[in-house]
Amino acid sequence: MAVNKQKDVVILAIESSCDETAAAVVKNGREVLSNIISSQIDLHTLYGGVVPELASRKHIERINQVIEEALSEAKLALEDMDAIAVTYGPGLVGALLVGVAEAKAIAWGAGKPLIGVHHIEGHICANYIENKELEPPFLCLVVSGGHTHLVKVADYGKYEVLGRTRDDAAGEAFDKVARAIGLGYPGGPKIEKKAGEGNPDAIVFPRAKVAEHPYDFSFSGVKSAVLNYINGCRMKQIPVVEADIAASFQKAVTDVLIEHAVHALEETGMDTLAIAGGVASNGTLRRGMEEACKTRGIKFFYPSPIFCTDNAAMIGAAAFHEFLAGRRDGWELNAVPGLKLGER
Ligand code: KG4
Ligand code: ZN
Repeated sequence: MAVNKQKDVVILAIESSCDETAAAVVKNGREVLSNIISSQIDLHTLYGGVVPELASRKHIERINQVIEEALSEAKLALEDMDAIAVTYGPGLVGALLVGVAEAKAIAWGAGKPLIGVHHIEGHICANYIENKELEPPFLCLVVSGGHTHLVKVADYGKYEVLGRTRDDAAGEAFDKVARAIGLGYPGGPKIEKKAGEGNPDAIVFPRAKVAEHPYDFSFSGVKSAVLNYINGCRMKQIPVVEADIAASFQKAVTDVLIEHAVHALEETGMDTLAIAGGVASNGTLRRGMEEACKTRGIKFFYPSPIFCTDNAAMIGAAAFHEFLAGRRDGWELNAVPGLKLGER
């Protein structure tokens, strides 16, 4: 008897919004056939942060090879693809443009549909890759170097932003504090490592609230408090214990992230939480969130670290749902550095 099986959808996805040149082949939005990431961290470390012009130039140098590797690791050719997906915003305009121009050229040359993907939507959809049972609706905390968003995922492709940062993103705060205590770039993993040797209760840094906006965040205050604390130590000629600063800072930031997410879960009555973005690979955040969810009977999901930081597999995962919804972009697709979530 013939089985009525839906045809597989295989997508080549490209990501170049910041400092990783990435390409991936993703089947049916959840199965990663290849995930190639060429990081520029070594280059930007020399300057203490991402230099946009250098990022674009490096993307141009690397992108063709990264795409070839993604296809060859998946043991597939361009003809086998059902669509070409690319991050078109938000991000650094020059960096985004490299990916968008490349995706347009490939899609046009191979006669394939083109799908522009929102970078944050990609981070959220990274959760679908390893958590096959995860389906909307759920609440997602997106914490990366450029964004801190508390998002209600009502359905595939349907997002409602409940809260966002008013100033620095969570990852940005990690990066700035790491620089202040001399740990270098990128700060998140370095702070986490250093914090492992310190006492999280040694120093009480502020946990900011935004009046009348319980789901919004503000991290510039905690960053300034760390800088003031370091200056104070130096003036009083008392030793600066980097490990205690790292641990106490990390605790202050993760406490706020957990508290806001729990509040939103309680207020909306949602029973599922996911976290996403580079900061979502932080162990203190994961463990704290896991504990908070467990005691409240909330299902908790997070991606492996490789799918938390920027990658193209997450873009392929997001593009699948756009593909099913019939969304196709034209050759006029352009980079949109300030693209808002849910904006088309
Ligand atoms: O998602 P991502 O790769 O890029 C953006 O879209 O911004 O996130 C990068 C950010 C950086 O700020 C980095 O310091 C932070 O994620 N990060 C971490 C950790 N790993 C990366 N922050 C805290 N703990 C970590 N383990
Ligand atoms: Zn990102």
